[in-house]
Amino acid sequence: MLGKDLISIDQINKKTLEKIFEVSFFMEKKIQEKGSLDILKGKIMASLFFEPSTRTRFSFETAMQKIGGNIISTTGVNFSSMAKGESLEDTIKTIERYCDIIIIRHPDKGSAKIAASSASIPVINAGDGPGEHPTQALLDFYTIKKTKREIDGLKIAMVGDLKYGRTIHSLLKLLSNYKSEFYLVSPGELKIPKEYLDILRRRKSNYIETDNIEKVIDKVDVLYMTRVQRERFDNQTEYEKLKSSFILDRNLLKQAKKDMIIMHPLPRVSEISTDVDNDKRAKYFEQVENGVYVRAALLAMTLNKI
Ligand code: NCD
Repeated sequence: MLGKDLISIDQINKKTLEKIFEVSFFMEKKIQEKGSLDILKGKIMASLFFEPSTRTRFSFETAMQKIGGNIISTTGVNFSSMAKGESLEDTIKTIERYCDIIIIRHPDKGSAKIAASSASIPVINAGDGPGEHPTQALLDFYTIKKTKREIDGLKIAMVGDLKYGRTIHSLLKLLSNYKSEFYLVSPGELKIPKEYLDILRRRKSNYIETDNIEKVIDKVDVLYMTRVQRERFDNQTEYEKLKSSFILDRNLLKQAKKDMIIMHPLPRVSEISTDVDNDKRAKYFEQVENGVYVRAALLAMTLNKI
């Protein structure tokens, strides 16, 4: 990955994925043992977040600092010269003069690719509108593999906004490299786009689409919940209608396997009731922490010969 951009999860083959897993595990051990490392001493990461973020930005910034690097950052178009009309391309050509790597989140699908083609330094996509979120998929993979060990044979339900949820898009593509089975649970209006089903078919992955979570919850090993993506709706009445389509609470959880894991990229709105948080199957705050180790691994692998 040395010197490379990370725009889509398609760039990560199984061999690279195994390597990222190993380096992330190394980062977890070392950071826990020593507190911080100096692998990226003298390097600067710019984080450009033109859409809201809590976990992705903070975990990238924490990761960079934990492994010895420094950060510069801007949040929101209003706080950069893009508010004065500067193009994304010029913004990137400017910022790359100050740093060694750029992390970008932007509301437009395809924007990270445009940023990467304007830059001569590595660019990492931290979410391009309803497009992809490859680093989230990598930390989700890390969380699943750490708890379940084998990915082949897992039954995985993805629930909620499969149309606009970029974490789903990247994770589904990544997991379809394995012999897992997918239960795609969404209201009819928020079904997974055809391009992702085409990938599943090409890879001969087994999947079913349904709008009924109760029919599948007792079968699955991984339950990946997502929120309905309000910011992608033109019509807010439509959002209101769909926002509470699925709610996981203690009662519904009674039907699930004892060793099923519950995941969510967060933020949650109402789709997981807080009374589920203390259940030992709930892994969503572990995912948050894993984000630091996986992003530390990605930064180190991109900027250093690790
Ligand atoms: C997700 C995102 O931004 O796509 N959040 C995250 O990065 N952890 C999920 C979401 O916003 O629903």
